[in-house]
Amino acid sequence: MTDQEKSQRTPLIVGDIIDAIRGVLRKHDVTFEEYRAGFMHLMQLADAHEVPLLLDCYLNQTICDIEMKTRQGSRSNVEGPYFLEDAPMVTDTIKVRGDTKPLLIRCRVKDLQGQPIPDVITDIWFADSNGDYSGYSEDFPKEYFRGKTTTDSDGLYAVMGSIPKEYPMTSNEHGPTGTIIELLGGQGMRPQHIHFKYLKEGYAPLTTQTYFSGGAYLKEDPVGAVFDDLIHELKEEDGVAVLDLNIVLDPAA
Ligand code: DHB
Ligand code: FE
Repeated sequence: MTDQEKSQRTPLIVGDIIDAIRGVLRKHDVTFEEYRAGFMHLMQLADAHEVPLLLDCYLNQTICDIEMKTRQGSRSNVEGPYFLEDAPMVTDTIKVRGDTKPLLIRCRVKDLQGQPIPDVITDIWFADSNGDYSGYSEDFPKEYFRGKTTTDSDGLYAVMGSIPKEYPMTSNEHGPTGTIIELLGGQGMRPQHIHFKYLKEGYAPLTTQTYFSGGAYLKEDPVGAVFDDLIHELKEEDGVAVLDLNIVLDPAA
């Protein structure tokens, strides 16, 4: 897509979003009182800094599904609101703290023809045992629970991290996002997961997650992002839990 084509899409998409919302208001004969209640709820979302949480909860996976229409490699999955651009480079260990169980994350990255891809920069991030992501509060520096590593000449990387726990998507379950989840009959616990982002020139960037077989909440993920091909069984080697991943990158569009 050229820059001009991109800029022409923006007014079309924004116009259609407004039309779609107007359609809902008309369909339900929404009253001014109801409109103001929704308006106030959006104000509360903004005040509580939960706009990213709500948008990613309900819309991010839809974008991933659209991406999969033109991809043949590994599945794109929700980035969520907790990615940070400037995570530390790690060689073999991601720093963790608190009550955690070690996990070796080992991954082979290949192209669609099965050839290993070297020098793939991989961001890995996951929550601590309280469900918090580093870098989002003063006392939790971003060198913990996240890091960037690079595949070797065989397309491999291996780093030590820890097994994440399932946790509430929002630490404030009665906050403006939690009440929407409840209103719609959902529940707010995310299953155990690790986030990944794979970047290499010439290949389509891949943002995805890994889930763990047998874990809780796999069938009722509030984000709707759990797919069978993303669920992995842990192995054990020399008393250490191991997550073995095979990732396939699509060529750049
Ligand atoms: C969301 C996604 C996550 O992976 C997460 O840990 C928390 C929230 C989200 O989409 O809102
Ligand atoms: Fe997450």
